[in-house]
Amino acid sequence: MIADIVCGLAWGDEGKGAVVSQLARSGSYTHAIKPSGGSNSGHTVYVNGVRTSSHVIPSSALYGVRSIVGSGCVLNESKFFAELDKLSKLKSDISNLVKIAHNAHIVTDKHIEEEQNESRIGTTRQGIGGAYRDKAARVGQRAEDVPGLREFCIDLHKELHIDSPNAVILCENSQGISLDVDLAEKYPYCTSTNVGPAAVLNNGIPFSAIRKVFGVAKCYDTYVGSMAFQDRTDPILDKIAEVGMEFGTTTGRRRQVGYLDMDRIIRNAASIGATDIIMKKGDILRKVGVWRLKFNGEDFRFHDETDFRNFVAEKFNNLNVIFSESPDGI
Ligand code: IMP
Ligand code: MG
Repeated sequence: MIADIVCGLAWGDEGKGAVVSQLARSGSYTHAIKPSGGSNSGHTVYVNGVRTSSHVIPSSALYGVRSIVGSGCVLNESKFFAELDKLSKLKSDISNLVKIAHNAHIVTDKHIEEEQNESRIGTTRQGIGGAYRDKAARVGQRAEDVPGLREFCIDLHKELHIDSPNAVILCENSQGISLDVDLAEKYPYCTSTNVGPAAVLNNGIPFSAIRKVFGVAKCYDTYVGSMAFQDRTDPILDKIAEVGMEFGTTTGRRRQVGYLDMDRIIRNAASIGATDIIMKKGDILRKVGVWRLKFNGEDFRFHDETDFRNFVAEKFNNLNVIFSESPDGI
């Protein structure tokens, strides 16, 4: 078994969807899995020129890869079917490719309702926290308990360890390491799960299977949630938000913007054992005409893009650092 993992190095919205699209299209994977999370996340993908987003369903399904909603995920039945319907319009046979781990947990309508006025953390209001709370309290419902979902359910162990001895799995992780419930940069401003390789291991994919860990970051930071993040005295940050179209894939909320915090992505890359770093959206900084970042608590401004890139690459000395601008690929 081989597993490659695509992880966010910051606060989510790094461009993991684009990286996943490129990898999924390579034809090298027998399976894709979303290891944790639910409808809180959103991968933007382009299918035949149409911009769409996947949430609980791994976006690799759009590229013909057998795709699993993992055992660490939570899903709401009607949202799952609505998403499947939406994606079926772009790829007609998608329902044959999508599977759900029988032990994934259910987000009930009540979980969603109870979160509608939530503003302390600034959640996506998808009922994520309530579903994981009930899972941990051992009063949750699993996918296999819901008649409508049963036909999609599989036993992950059987699927990956018995039926597919040569599985090559693309792990479409959600969010970013700063939002991990354990590695949280600012608890409680985080999600309710692990979001890095730990989430993959919790699906019964052993660490010995892990080949590559792609750490994805943008050339600037964004965050969506209740904590104050953006320096409101700096109009350039608004410009970056506008040019970069920084609105949440799931909620449509305007993301708060900051200059790239290198200390954060270096720390998070170390936590996940990143083998490759993919830096997205340099084109936005080029359009805005600003090459700036923070490192070691200090503000760095660069003459040009080459200086910026060299600085970033040097800080990840042994890793393969790729700058990628494609909205759909590496
Ligand atoms: P929850 O996961 O909906 O409970 O939200 C908790 C925090 O994580 C909030 O700040 C959300 O905005 C953030 N969050 C959750 N999922 C994503 C994501 O996929 N991208 C960006 N932020 C996310
Ligand atoms: Mg996203």
